[in-house]
Amino acid sequence: MKLSARARAVKTSPTLALDARTKDLQAKGDDIVSFAVGEPDFDTPQHVKDAAAEAIASGFTKYTATNGIPELKEAIVSKLSRENGLLYEPSQVLVSVGAKHCLYNAVMALCDVKDEVLIPSPFWVSYPEMVVLAGAVPVAVSPDQGFKVSARQLAGRLTARTKGIILNSPSNPTGAVYTRSELEDLAQFVLDHDLWVIADEIYEHLVYDGYEHVSLASLSPEIKERTITVNGVSKAFAMTGWRIGYAAGPSDVIKAMGKVQIHTTSNPTSISQKAAVAALTGPMDTVWSMREEFDRRRRYMTERLHTMAGFSCQLPPGAFYVFTDVRDVLGKSYRGQNIDNDDQLAELILTEAHLAVVPGSGFGMPGHLRFSYATSQSRIKEGLDRLERWLKTLE
Ligand SMILES: Cc1ncc(COP(=O)(O)O)c(C=O)c1O
Repeated sequence: MKLSARARAVKTSPTLALDARTKDLQAKGDDIVSFAVGEPDFDTPQHVKDAAAEAIASGFTKYTATNGIPELKEAIVSKLSRENGLLYEPSQVLVSVGAKHCLYNAVMALCDVKDEVLIPSPFWVSYPEMVVLAGAVPVAVSPDQGFKVSARQLAGRLTARTKGIILNSPSNPTGAVYTRSELEDLAQFVLDHDLWVIADEIYEHLVYDGYEHVSLASLSPEIKERTITVNGVSKAFAMTGWRIGYAAGPSDVIKAMGKVQIHTTSNPTSISQKAAVAALTGPMDTVWSMREEFDRRRRYMTERLHTMAGFSCQLPPGAFYVFTDVRDVLGKSYRGQNIDNDDQLAELILTEAHLAVVPGSGFGMPGHLRFSYATSQSRIKEGLDRLERWLKTLE
């Protein structure tokens, strides 16, 4: 059977593929430490689980309004006002099946075939593929140095077909956080060139060292009209499996995203929506204690990686990843086998050191590896010990 050009063009997710591979090896009895996953290892807070149990017990198990239950949309409106300085009406909010689904709906609502979308690299693996699925063209924009792009670098890739930008701060895979003044420059660029921005703020609560998360749309009424803010409960409330994300933006875009959603998934799960209400309106203490723990692990992992020959990384100010430059390891060999690129290196680390890490190539930045510290401190120590021992065997 001949598959569509779309299906043939889209790539699988390297992070999910690696996660599946790790789980396969673990099922066969191999003890693999995984630094590959992008999900908090903490449990969903009890009051959130209770709200879901209550939803089931009370029979809240039917189709809901396709764009989200009013109670949850109200909770999102107050969250955005309280925490992000963003004022929206419930009609400007769409609840979807995870932030990923919001991003996809937004790309489908905004991109025409052959439109170009600027994506700062390294980028989260799904952005370019979503753009490809929409028939549009992802344009990766590399920073000159560090992990953040400037308006000047974006301008270098601007063409008559450029429609918009997908911006992620704090970033997966680097943990980079754009400052207010950097965002102001980017906002000016967007307005000057009549573009739109999808601002993925899923890691907003995971910022360290006094860094501040700033919502792009809060900078001015003009940029708010050009921005679709995407967020969700997965990372902040350890709710990855519940699949609730949300988007807020100009009414016409949100309405169009809602039309895409109606014909693809209808509503997000009724029970999860009730759980998300509890998460967004309830106490934040679990979020802050999770952040404290991530902060400890972040420092530990970065310090250890610093001491490993050929590995170079900065202390990341956000999210739960350390993106490490491993170019000095490439060119070495393991038992006579040359290590030419990050894919090979990650494969050897998996099979020989029994540690799963994600190669940078999938994020658009070869020569790097992404280490997630969303796993327990004892597993982090164990994984880094294994890596350190294995690196010493390279020639
Ligand atoms: C940058 C980024 N955006 C969005 C998502 C997806 O979040 P959700 O679980 O809400 O779909 C992820 C998950 O890894 C992510 O890293």
